[in-house]
Amino acid sequence: MNTIRILSETLASQIAAGEVVDRPASVVRELTDNSIDAGADRIVVTIENGGKRRIRVSDNGLGMSKDDLLLCVERHATSKIRTASDLLSVRSLGFRGEALPSIAAVSRIQITSLPQGRLTGHSLRISGGKLLEIKETGAPPGTIVDVKDLFFNIPARRKFLRAVRTETDHIVDSLSRIAMPFPGITFRLDDGTRNVIHLPASEDTRDRISGLMGRKTAEAMVTGEEKEGDLSIKVYAAPPDFARSRGDRLYVYVNCRNIRDRLVTKAIMEGYGRRLMKGQYPQVVLFIDIDPLEIDVNVHPTKQEIRFRNASRIFQAIVSAVGKSLDSSPQPFSRQGVLDRAIPFERVSSPAVS
Ligand SMILES: Nc1ncnc2c1ncn2[C@@H]1O[C@H](COP(=O)(O)OP(=O)(O)OP(=O)(O)O)[C@@H](O)[C@H]1O
Ligand SMILES: [Mg+2]
Repeated sequence: MNTIRILSETLASQIAAGEVVDRPASVVRELTDNSIDAGADRIVVTIENGGKRRIRVSDNGLGMSKDDLLLCVERHATSKIRTASDLLSVRSLGFRGEALPSIAAVSRIQITSLPQGRLTGHSLRISGGKLLEIKETGAPPGTIVDVKDLFFNIPARRKFLRAVRTETDHIVDSLSRIAMPFPGITFRLDDGTRNVIHLPASEDTRDRISGLMGRKTAEAMVTGEEKEGDLSIKVYAAPPDFARSRGDRLYVYVNCRNIRDRLVTKAIMEGYGRRLMKGQYPQVVLFIDIDPLEIDVNVHPTKQEIRFRNASRIFQAIVSAVGKSLDSSPQPFSRQGVLDRAIPFERVSSPAVS
């Protein structure tokens, strides 16, 4: 007797969606990534009930034609790569062609878009992966994605959503992390009653850091750079006395993509070395720019992990950039004082070459 079955398309889509979208913050991240990839310089996010009832992201980017609107919600449909070799040179935030179909499979979604320079816009409505309608409509140039009732058709998932406050905090964190490397883009987040984030466009990265981490921290930060062939590292490092007991103020970017990476965290810590007390984490913004050939971004559906081809090279460069920035500080931050109070810092060793 044969016991193996092929799952229905609907169930397969819901399972796939589960990997990409696990809470409102991941919807915000995917939609905002799309707006950035579309070249927008103004992105406005509105949420209701911590995003559980509604998430609306509007941008003034390229926009989509009627045909593209119909295609963008199909699985594996993307304008960002064409061939396997394109995967080696990805610089856009998206490339998997998965986000919109995943969100559309587990919500009621409306996408309205007007391509720049065109007169007629279109609007598409989908509920739980089923196309309800596509119609002509007036719209501002750009795209508006309106996502309602996330996980309405997957009660098990919906049950895992947390309180409004918690989901809102996750959204604020996601959007902050996305916005950091794009000071030229205006970002707003409204939660229905108030403006939670307002980051006006600026030419200066330090303004963006100030908007996200506070003016005092931004002004105190020292910078360091490391350039070596195709690798360039720029770090904004807060003095050790700004350290915290949690590593939540480490903002790390590879080619403008926010990543979480233990190796990079270790390298930053090593760069601070004995300047930090044990159990403390510094406040740091680190931008790594590297030839996409040197990294693999296709490691995880959420695209927040990457692999470095030559991890030890990156490690050393970060340690050096962080160390240089702190050494270059004009006002020596009472290093002796810190050392006096410090429990000897257990130095982490460099990783083996991968
Ligand atoms: N805000 C937008 N403005 C213009 N085009 C968009 C927008 N959002 C999506 N698109 C188009 O729809 C396509 C599908 O989007 P989707 O997010 O599903 O995939 P992706 O961004 O290509 O890859 P990933 O799944 O990694 O995000 C994109 O490749 C892009 O062409
Ligand atoms: Mg995308």
